[in-house]
Amino acid sequence: MITSLPVSRVPDPSLAPPLRWGVLGPGGIARAFVRSVLKHSRQQLVAVGSRTAQRAEAFAAEFGIPRVHSSYESLVTDPDVDVVYVATPHSHHHAQALLAIAAGKHVLVEKAFTRNAAEARGVAEAARAAGVVALEAMWTRFLPGADVLRQLLAAGELGEIVTVAADFGLPIGPEDAARLHDPALAGGALLDLGIYPVSFASFVLGPPDEITATGRLTEAGVDEQVRAVLRTGAAEAVLTTTLTERTHTTAEIVGTRARVDLPADFYTPVPFTVSDGHATFTADPGPILGHEGLVYQAAHLAQLVADGTTDSPTLPLEETIGILTTTDEIRRQVGVRYPGE
Ligand SMILES: NC(=O)c1ccc[n+]([C@@H]2O[C@H](COP(=O)([O-])OP(=O)(O)OC[C@H]3O[C@@H](n4cnc5c(N)ncnc54)[C@H](OP(=O)(O)O)[C@@H]3O)[C@@H](O)[C@H]2O)c1
Repeated sequence: MITSLPVSRVPDPSLAPPLRWGVLGPGGIARAFVRSVLKHSRQQLVAVGSRTAQRAEAFAAEFGIPRVHSSYESLVTDPDVDVVYVATPHSHHHAQALLAIAAGKHVLVEKAFTRNAAEARGVAEAARAAGVVALEAMWTRFLPGADVLRQLLAAGELGEIVTVAADFGLPIGPEDAARLHDPALAGGALLDLGIYPVSFASFVLGPPDEITATGRLTEAGVDEQVRAVLRTGAAEAVLTTTLTERTHTTAEIVGTRARVDLPADFYTPVPFTVSDGHATFTADPGPILGHEGLVYQAAHLAQLVADGTTDSPTLPLEETIGILTTTDEIRRQVGVRYPGE
């Protein structure tokens, strides 16, 4: 019987030692990331690089960032930058992460880390050889609530896991986000939204033994909708994602001793519940809500650097590669192949 929930061990992000950050690709998520980091941490935003000087200047002016670069090469070789945040379309993460690593910089790379597992392995090998941190910006993993779940799972409090379910769907047309509908930019629901359910299943169950997926493609050839069943031992994870409608965007874990329900949006800081048939406990999502939770991954990376650790124990590169191995197989089954793969 569960008597209380574990306490999150995630430190206050304002306690992490400061690093000097450079933003590569000043777009939508970079804006949310910088806002949260400036508000909730001591991390320093020292530089921004864009393919267009004007865009870099506008972003720098918006956030008071002192150094502006009109190319990514110039950003990554800036001696005042310790770590590069790669926030461009999925198609470009591999080359840009390698560019920053070759310049001796740590990298925080937006999800999906790369287009496929082979590219992710290339980034991981380069980072290991250079002795720098490369971390997938799967921000959900670094939230206080994820650590509560991690402890419940490690202690076996839920019993044997029977099923996991997670979904993430939003109506995003080409007019809303062209990159999601362009195969050349590694678009599609799976790598952008579906990566959260896939990562959640990996977090709870580890790598799957068997994958069964169905999906529907757009005329351009990216996945508009995907449903996948991932079997790990006797447990099954049922995952859905779509670019056509707003879905529940919830998640659940059902074990033989207890169940966990994560309300919408499950991948953000949420007050999830744990019920064992006798009592229901509600987890504290922590003091930082919504996308302001992006700060936790930055603080985590800064602490890794301060500790001299290059691979995150919270989200090791091998797991990131495993998650992309899963999306590779799902894409193979639904028939999505990106140019040049
Ligand atoms: N964690 C989250 O909650 C979250 C939310 C949304 C997105 N994301 C992730 O963040 C990344 C960026 O997404 P976003 O929505 O922020 O992207 P975005 O605003 O469309 O673009 C970001 C930057 O990428 C570069 N870019 C845009 N289109 C390009 C193209 N056709 N070719 C080459 N570069 C291009 C631009 O940089 P320049 O200024 O240099 O041209 C742009 O400023 C993706 O990996 C996405 O999955 C994460």
